[in-house]
Formats: sequence, C-alpha cells, structure tokens
Amino acid sequence: MLLEVDDLRKGFGSGRRRIEVLKGIDLQIEQGELVALMGPSGCGKSTLLNIIGGLLAGDSGSVQLNEFKYGTRNPAGNVKVRRHAVGWIFQDFHLVEHLSALDNVALALGLSGASDSESNERAADALTRVGLGDRLDHIPDQLSGGQRQRVAIARAVAGRRPLLLADEPTGNLDSRSGEGILELFHDLCHDTENPISILMVTHDPVLAAKADRMLLLNDGVTAASDIRSAWGDEIIDSISGDEGGEEE
Ligand SMILES: Nc1ncnc2c1ncn2[C@@H]1O[C@H](COP(=O)(O)OP(=O)(O)OP(=O)(O)O)[C@@H](O)[C@H]1O
Ligand SMILES: [Mg+2]
Repeated sequence: MLLEVDDLRKGFGSGRRRIEVLKGIDLQIEQGELVALMGPSGCGKSTLLNIIGGLLAGDSGSVQLNEFKYGTRNPAGNVKVRRHAVGWIFQDFHLVEHLSALDNVALALGLSGASDSESNERAADALTRVGLGDRLDHIPDQLSGGQRQRVAIARAVAGRRPLLLADEPTGNLDSRSGEGILELFHDLCHDTENPISILMVTHDPVLAAKADRMLLLNDGVTAASDIRSAWGDEIIDSISGDEGGEEE
C-alpha cells in the first residue's frame, strides 16, 4: 500500500468556535491508482490534502506514505515527505511567468539539489511525457491554459515522487482541456514502467467518473462512492447528455 490514512481527525479553533472538520478519515491508495475526492465546499478536502502533503498537522490519527509515518507531526518535521514523497498540482498552475516551460520544470529540480545538466535532462523528459516536447522554450504566456497545467504536472512528475496531490487541477480549464488533463493523469498512473498515484479533488462529476475510484468526503468521513449514487441518475444523465426519453 502506498498511502494509508488511519482515523485521522482535525478541527480548528477552540471553545464555542471550535469546528471539527475531519472526524476519523480512513483511506488507502495503492501505487498506480487515480482517486477522485469529492464533497461539498468547506467539507475539508483541502485540509485532508494538506495533512497528507505534510503541510499541516492533524489532531490525531496517522498517515503512512511509503516509509514515512506522520499525520500529527509538526509540518517542520516533514521536510523529507515534501521533498521526496509528494508533488502538488494546483488550480492556478503556479508557474514562473518569464521562464520557459523547460526552465520552470528545471528550476524546481535545481532547488531540490539536482545539477544543471541533470535538471535540464529530467525536465525535458517530463515535458515530453506530458506531451509538450515541442514547447520547451515557450513561456507561460505563449501556452494555453491546458498546456500551462501540463507544465505544472511535468514539474510535479519530474520530482519522481510517488504521490501527486491535485487540488482542483482542472478548476481553471474549459471542459475539453480538463478532460485532456484527466487522460494524462490516467496515463501517468497506468504507466507500466513508472506508475504514480494521484489523489485529485474535483467538483466535476464527469471528470471524477474517469478516475479509477471515487471517494466522497461528507460530514467529516470518507466513503467509497460510485458516481450515480453520489449524484443521482438524473443529474448524471443531464450532464452526460443522455436522452432521458422524456420532454420537460
Ligand atoms: N487554518 C484554518 N483555520 C480555521 N478554519 C479553517 C482553516 N482551514 C480550514 N478551515 C475550515 O475548515 C473547513 C474545511 O476547509 P477546506 O478548505 O478543507 O474545505 P474544502 O473542502 O477544500 O472546500 P472547497 O471545496 O471550497 O475548496 C472550512 O469550514 C474552513 O473554514
Ligand atoms: Mg479546497
């Protein structure tokens, strides 16, 4: 098992203002799995990702990611987790504006200690892997939204971390680019030589349905879900454009 979260709890504030957000999260992700995490706004999806990513301490429970065991540890003690175990992809890409795609990816590798030539080589490999082998010298302004997100994904992949955390990675993309990103995630997770795992937050049920598995976070706990029981047949049919057979 790549990731195992056990009875993880987290609340914010104290006294009467205290809110319990995560109330005993149990979840497991295997190597090569693409998992979608859904749930209403404010239910704690980003909080959960932040704890798994070693950026925030839970109140109790544990996170085991490969050889790393943490969950309640102060984030200052999770440097190795952040450096070696998880990569991040955000809604708004977080690219450096005036740097080429290649330099954006190489910069991140250089910061984590790779030499210049190794950084350039690995950056070019990662960009090729996400389909941008012919865009190495383009700066973000010269790329589409979907291509920019691919640069951000290349940056995360180039770090060779086993788990990518993606918080609404398609939130700023049109639906076609969003589906392209999901296909890329699929390829990265199902790669026969070098599979990674991805835990992705999305509000889009159509994209969530393309993941290997879907988890619903609701009222502080996660439950396995299939798309139809989470959203109802009617909504799915209306989104996917199926003919309902009836007029309004
Ligand atoms: N640092 C913090 N201090 C106090 N409350 C917080 C803090 N971080 C998050 N919360 C609260 O915890 C709850 C969960 O927030 P979180 O950002 O994890 O939700 P989310 O599921 O990611 O929502 P969205 O879909 O809108 O991004 C919210 O009620 C939020 O106000
Ligand atoms: Mg969030």
